[in-house]
Amino acid sequence: MFSAQHINQFNQLETPFYYYDLNLLQKTVTACTQAAAQYHYHVHYALKANFNPKVLQTMQAAGIGADCVSGNEVKAAIEHGFSNNKVVFAGVGKSDREINAALDADIFCFNVESVQELVVINDLAAAKGKTARVAIRINPNVDAHTHHYITTGLEENKFGINTWQLDDVLFTLKNCTNLEFIGVHFHVGSQITNLEVFKNLCTRVNELHNWFDNQGLAIKVLNVGGGLGVDYYNPDTNSICDFESYFKVFSEHLRVKEGQEVHFELGRALVAQSASLISKVLYVKNGQKKNFLILDAGMTELIRPMLYQAYHHIENISKQHTAYNTINYDVVGPICESTDCFRTDVALPESHRGDLIAMRTAGAYGEVMASGYNLRDRVQSVYSQPEQVEVV
Ligand code: LLP
Repeated sequence: MFSAQHINQFNQLETPFYYYDLNLLQKTVTACTQAAAQYHYHVHYALKANFNPKVLQTMQAAGIGADCVSGNEVKAAIEHGFSNNKVVFAGVGKSDREINAALDADIFCFNVESVQELVVINDLAAAKGKTARVAIRINPNVDAHTHHYITTGLEENKFGINTWQLDDVLFTLKNCTNLEFIGVHFHVGSQITNLEVFKNLCTRVNELHNWFDNQGLAIKVLNVGGGLGVDYYNPDTNSICDFESYFKVFSEHLRVKEGQEVHFELGRALVAQSASLISKVLYVKNGQKKNFLILDAGMTELIRPMLYQAYHHIENISKQHTAYNTINYDVVGPICESTDCFRTDVALPESHRGDLIAMRTAGAYGEVMASGYNLRDRVQSVYSQPEQVEVV
């Protein structure tokens, strides 16, 4: 819900832009860190969800670590003050240049996704006379029951090492003298709203934990990934995730031994609700079969609806404080692609050129997935004034 003051401010700005509610961001991060602290869990923020500088500053100030998937993300994390011993580097295709830079930065650990990668990291570390800390990303074959484009923990996905390859991993680790095995890493998918999925993950991790114990390989870190979903349908009434229930599942079902650390890599749940994409109606095109609302934002600013059929709550915020007739519109962007449609048949107040349209819950995988297709301008970011919020 935006105040009349917001609307006045937005009307004076060039659209489209991402609007960040820094107060909500801070509250969300605090809710997460407080819930995790009860169990001494370590949270890393998945930078891929949003590497906007203000977001990174907020995460870093809250003492959260950084989960990176490219050399540039590792660099950005360190430049934003994340301590190198809180930076992890995952990804199926780390280049030699990226591995070397991460070795130079002495990051906490590499989450390794193949036996071949273990050998490459070992060789590059040896050339520098260093030892690289590694965690093995295991594909747990647990169904995340989410959109198939964002499922990662099934045997048919490219991520992680399958359990039938673990003997090979063991053999390789024994021969790689410049690697220090520190633990195991799992991630089953994103936008998971059914907590049963995490319970199933715990069961699987416990089984694999036993296997490592039996091989005499000590696990120091159990990294269970991220994936906690958010409520895209109720951005105002359900704006902060239930971190308490999420961590409770792990506290009840994950077997952790004395001295072991449990790590999480949350992205979406920490940032999604804190931003909206604000755009303006350029044209209202009334057809015989359809009414189109043509916006000045399209798939170049927010691609999730087109890529994953993702739902973002769409609001005509210029009309939210007035009485109106409701009309069904296909809400589309200006890009020369038929797929550049946010959603069809959206019931909205009768809209006019110049009205402000908000796409809610766009803080995760929104701004960072913007593209320059059609030689579009880079989307701008606008921030609320942060209120004083206690950081615990
Ligand atoms: N850890 C790993 C290894 C991951 O692959 C991901 C996300 C995360 C953590 C963070 O997951 P989260 O807590 O944000 O669910 N672009 C898609 C989502 C892709 C997620 C990729 N991996 C979307 O817009 O829905």
